[in-house]
Amino acid sequence: MKILLLNATPHKGNTWRVMCALRDEIAQADPAVEFEEIHLAGLGLPFCTGCSLCFRQGHRFCPHADILLPLLAKMEAGDGLIFGTTTFNMAPNALAKNLMDHWCFLLHRPHFFRNKAMVVSTTGGVGAGKTVDYTAGTLRAIGYNRCYKLPLASASWNDYRPSPAAQRKIRHMALCFYKDCVSGCLAPASVLQMIPYNLFRGMSLAYAKGSPYETEDGNHWSDPVRAHMAYDPSVPMPFYKKPLGHLFYLIGRAAGNAVTVTYKK
Ligand SMILES: Cc1cc2nc3c(=O)[nH]c(=O)nc-3n(C[C@H](O)[C@H](O)[C@H](O)COP(=O)(O)O)c2cc1C
Repeated sequence: MKILLLNATPHKGNTWRVMCALRDEIAQADPAVEFEEIHLAGLGLPFCTGCSLCFRQGHRFCPHADILLPLLAKMEAGDGLIFGTTTFNMAPNALAKNLMDHWCFLLHRPHFFRNKAMVVSTTGGVGAGKTVDYTAGTLRAIGYNRCYKLPLASASWNDYRPSPAAQRKIRHMALCFYKDCVSGCLAPASVLQMIPYNLFRGMSLAYAKGSPYETEDGNHWSDPVRAHMAYDPSVPMPFYKKPLGHLFYLIGRAAGNAVTVTYKK
């Protein structure tokens, strides 16, 4: 089993220290787990330019594809992702937000259905809850099957020493996350995942091949299996959720017919 530690903070500070503590707990529980570290600050990922090529032509046309594609491949290969972002101004730090901006096409074409995630954030006093909620919401929307949240108040500039209670929490979260990753079991899709999934499934039909404004989103959702399923077939789906998915699909389809999203040809 592989776990990717993606440090999206600008340095190896308090949040990274918690990520290392999680790694050490998991390694103690199972020495066979393989870990890989990525420090986003070292990759030099430029700001998302807003060119929208990822939505229209595919993410391989992103001007930063040389950095982004290998990163996505590592996320895919990791059964688990531990994502660290500091809380700056009550929100994810800019480096982390920039990466999430580069993931936006995945909200339209979710992908990481078999992968599990955990978001860690430290804050001086307040705001880490909001930071992890926002980040976990993004990870769930791009397909991550489950996302654990670990917000912690450090009351420290780069010298955080978790209290015994915080250490117990870190250990508990590490073991829950590890057991979930190693189980190979997938949780059923949540309603909050199914809403955007099915809205995009419906809306994107208006952009299929041969339409006046065809896009990669249109091609993606034209896949014969994907076009008819209320969520990815690899994920369990209780029967009562299927009609809900199809309802949002119909809403999306109506919205796609009512409004055309144009681009300069
Ligand atoms: C630019 C900046 C903004 C911050 N914003 C907040 C904040 O909104 N709320 C808060 O309680 N602490 C804030 N802090 C304190 C940090 O969140 C806290 O020290 C955190 O543990 C640092 O984690 P790191 O070492 O991983 O970067 C801020 C610190 C910096 C440098």
